[in-house]
Amino acid sequence: MKNNTNIVLIGFMGCGKSSVGIDLAKRISYSFVDSDLEIEKEIGMSISEYFKKYGEEQFRILEEKTIKRLVRTTRQVIATGGGIVKNPVNINHLKKTGHIVYLKASAKHIYNNIKNDSSRPLLNVEDKYNTIIALLNERKELYEKHPDFIVEVDGKSIEEISSLIINYLEEGQLL
Ligand code: S3P
Repeated sequence: MKNNTNIVLIGFMGCGKSSVGIDLAKRISYSFVDSDLEIEKEIGMSISEYFKKYGEEQFRILEEKTIKRLVRTTRQVIATGGGIVKNPVNINHLKKTGHIVYLKASAKHIYNNIKNDSSRPLLNVEDKYNTIIALLNERKELYEKHPDFIVEVDGKSIEEISSLIINYLEEGQLL
């Protein structure tokens, strides 16, 4: 068994990266880290506030810096922000020490998860559902291009999703 790896969860906002990440990390005795929370710790404000003050472009710079730092450590489950795939530099860093797992969710599933949540600046809009569809279409290719493993999450519990990831890791002796 290898023990020098990270498990990196990618996927759209609201697909369950953090919930699955926490459960998965506990079950495989890895530490858990959430790139958005790491950024919030560093900037001392919420991502929403940061977007309002400085905009998305500045956020992406911080995001890249954070990913670069996180990949220096191994045996972690890393939950990434939904836009991580927009920057190829992030993917290169994450692939160096990690297996990339894409949590693939439908627009309907995502909408149900985030409809009452106002913490995501890109979805703080009048028509959330159609914004999700548009952003998903824009990013679809990027999400599907990079992962080593894809889990379709609609209709599955957090535990079921983690179990599928664990089976994948064990079968490939990747842990
Ligand atoms: C973003 C996703 C968010 C956060 C930021 C931008 C995106 O993370 O990084 O609001 O571009 O998809 P979650 O996927 O954890 O919501």
